[in-house]
This record gives sequence, structure tokens and C-alpha cells, in this order.
Amino acid sequence: MVSGHGRGSNMAAIIEACQSGEAPATVGLVLGTRRDAPALERAQQAGVETVVISPKRFEGDDSAYADAVLTALAQRKIDLVCLAGYMRILPGPVVAACRNRVMNIHPALLPLFGGPGMYGEHVHEAVLASGMKLSGCTVHIVDEQYDTGPIVVQLAVPVEEGDTPATLAARVLEAEHRAYPAAVRLFAQGRLRVEGRCVRVLPEDAVQ
Ligand code: GRF
Repeated sequence: MVSGHGRGSNMAAIIEACQSGEAPATVGLVLGTRRDAPALERAQQAGVETVVISPKRFEGDDSAYADAVLTALAQRKIDLVCLAGYMRILPGPVVAACRNRVMNIHPALLPLFGGPGMYGEHVHEAVLASGMKLSGCTVHIVDEQYDTGPIVVQLAVPVEEGDTPATLAARVLEAEHRAYPAAVRLFAQGRLRVEGRCVRVLPEDAVQ
């Protein structure tokens, strides 16, 4: 799922991983909120079906929006939902119906630098202001709040002298493109077990 004018670089990394066989999965649908999002064109070029469900169409009726999303997912028998530049809170009924089957990627090392207002360059500005020498990205399970769900994969990158929010964002994005496909691969291999706040990753030979 992408929202707004999402550019879709993480979405593209996931599609590529699935099409190359790196992740034993098929991307069955890219769900957007706006028809003119670059991500949707990118998905179509990769041969992936796209559907637009605009929350605006439901005029604030979150449960009608949730129903439309759930119907689109059910029709295609979607097992895992990846939020990839979906900058909204996912409606509660979708989270509940797909418990532990929705992931998101955040451009920092959660639980630091997450929560409402922490998106885009705000995240990297906050990291630089903090003086931290490391940043990175987090793929996590989505729960009812922003950026709080159990952590699946994290990759760290250094914060370098002279970094700007843009240079740090570019370094983190490169890590995102490795972390998200890795998380999808683990899910598709059946190797993730959510236990409270923690996600246990089973060894590859434990699930064959
Ligand atoms: C990424 O930085 C991701 O961490 C955040 O939204 C951005 C999406 O970028 N959730 P892209 O559309 O995948 O290029």
C-alpha cells in the first residue's frame, strides 16, 4: 500500500525481490490512494495490478474505507500487506483483520525517532539534532499506533560528519531497499513468530 504521491522505491525493491525469486512470494496488488502516484505507474510497468481506493471518497467514514480495502485484499487472497510510503494510520478494522500480517518500514531505528510527526525529513533532522552516530531503518509489524509494533528487521547506517537530512535520508533509503525485501522473504518462508513485543526469527531449516 502506498498513499498520496508515493514514489514507490521500497515497493519496487519488494517487487524486484519477489520477481527475482529472492523472496518466495508474489506481489498480488499495489493499493494506492491517488491515481497519479508515481508508484502506481512503476508497479504497472513491473506487471503488477494496481487499484486506487481514495479515503476521501468515503468522506471520513473510516469503516467504509476499511471495508473497501479488506475486500480488495480478500479478492486477491493477499497474505501480507506491506505499507511502503503509506503515510496514514491504517484503519483499525484492517489492522485487526490482518493481525501480524501488516508490515511498515520506518527510516530510523525504532523505538527512537518514531510516532506522529516523525516522517520524511523530520526524522533525519531529529537524528542529526540528537548527535547520534548511527541511524538506519526498521521494518515492523503494524499495530493500532504509529511506529510501535514489534520489530522484524533493522539495518543500521553511520551518521557521517557533514550529513544533511538529505544525505542521511539517501543512505538510509539504500538500507531500506535491503531490509524490506529481507523481511518479506522471512515472512514468506514462514519464519516469523510474533511473541508479545518481540519477533522471533526461526532458522531456515526449522521450517522446511
Ligand atoms: C521511506 O523512507 C519509508 O521509510 C517511509 O516512506 C518512505 C517511502 O519511500 N515510510 P518510497 O516511496 O518507498 O521511495
